[in-house]
Amino acid sequence: MKLEIDQRGLNAEIEALAAISDAEPPAVTRIVFTPTDLKARAWMATRCEEAGLAVRQDAIGNIFARWNGADPAAPAVGTGSHIDAIPNAGKYDGVVGVLGGLEAIRALQRSGFRPKHSIELLVFATEEPTRFGIGCLGSRLLSGTLSADAAAKLKDRDGETVDEVRRRSGFNGDLQDVKLPKSYYKAFVELHIEQGPLLEKAKTSLGIVKSIAAPASLRISIEGSGGHAGGVLMPDRKDALCAAAELILAIENAARATGAADTVATVGVCDVFPGAVNSIPSRVGITVDIRDTDKARRDGAMQAIEGASQEITAKRHVSIQSELLNADAPADCAPEVRRGLADSCREHGFPFLEMVSRAYHDSLFISRIAPTGMLFIPCRKGYSHRPDEYAAPEDIARGALVLAESLAKLSE
Ligand code: GLV
Ligand code: MN
Ligand code: MN
Repeated sequence: MKLEIDQRGLNAEIEALAAISDAEPPAVTRIVFTPTDLKARAWMATRCEEAGLAVRQDAIGNIFARWNGADPAAPAVGTGSHIDAIPNAGKYDGVVGVLGGLEAIRALQRSGFRPKHSIELLVFATEEPTRFGIGCLGSRLLSGTLSADAAAKLKDRDGETVDEVRRRSGFNGDLQDVKLPKSYYKAFVELHIEQGPLLEKAKTSLGIVKSIAAPASLRISIEGSGGHAGGVLMPDRKDALCAAAELILAIENAARATGAADTVATVGVCDVFPGAVNSIPSRVGITVDIRDTDKARRDGAMQAIEGASQEITAKRHVSIQSELLNADAPADCAPEVRRGLADSCREHGFPFLEMVSRAYHDSLFISRIAPTGMLFIPCRKGYSHRPDEYAAPEDIARGALVLAESLAKLSE
């Protein structure tokens, strides 16, 4: 079997998809179920159809594109990632796994390979948490990690529910039907940029993921008392933003205080009400994203945040309400998938690193229902979730090649 990745074609597709965006280039913004996201999804479905794949979409908008194997009833071998992008993102997060996965399938088709198990490309819906507060909605539903009822009720910032938004976008099926049976996939492999600097530092172009760190997130609302910026004297203030400022630093400290480099905490959203220069903030909403490779240590840091909230409430006479959005367990990648990826690397003489994924991915949830592995390629300076995210075309092509070989082995 002679496999050739069309590096130029793949790169041109990455550029074409990046042009479907709500941000000025080179930034990419594609928030799930916006007209831009729907356009990108339609573009993607067309590319899959052009490759002769059978395309279907489920009720949350996961796209499945299947190359039927000689035994179509046997569990499929899956690959894929996401094409939604956070505000002001880059071109490669998720996209490399989707378009690289499609090119891996096309390379196998061109080589004359005929799979026994079907090979399926999965474009996960709403991997990013931007719109509905939690990430990986598509894969949480596919794996049964989140119930259809709980997913349907999640709201965006405008108060619209997942159910309302998805139906308006043309996804009218029953969310209960999204869950896949455990026997659906024989194995699943996701290709992704590393989103960290280790591969580049080690001058190594491939990473095989051992485990995926455990993410959790909170939505915190701080309620104080507003009023006139001139009229309310300092001793009488219950400034919600000042309380939020203390809490944000306590959150940073909770992560630092574990002493482990693997504990990371981020406040990425801070909504101030009423948001006027001469008005004391009466209400502030913040989000907390906290992760660790060690779930118990992460949970300890979350308790420290809870303790700080109570202290700040007492000291500043504000009220602080915290809503837990998700607190997921970490995942181990399947030894057989890791071995397959490592064998492919060795056959080509490609060095690789075995590593932890500090970012989360849909693979975190697919690993609950199928043996799952991830292959990383470097991204410049480890930059991701920013417009200057960059992966070199030759690294992307190398990743697609190793992916194609692994898919071939798994589908025999
Ligand atoms: C995924 O986008 C993550 O935030 O890890
Ligand atoms: Mn991302
Ligand atoms: Mn991603």
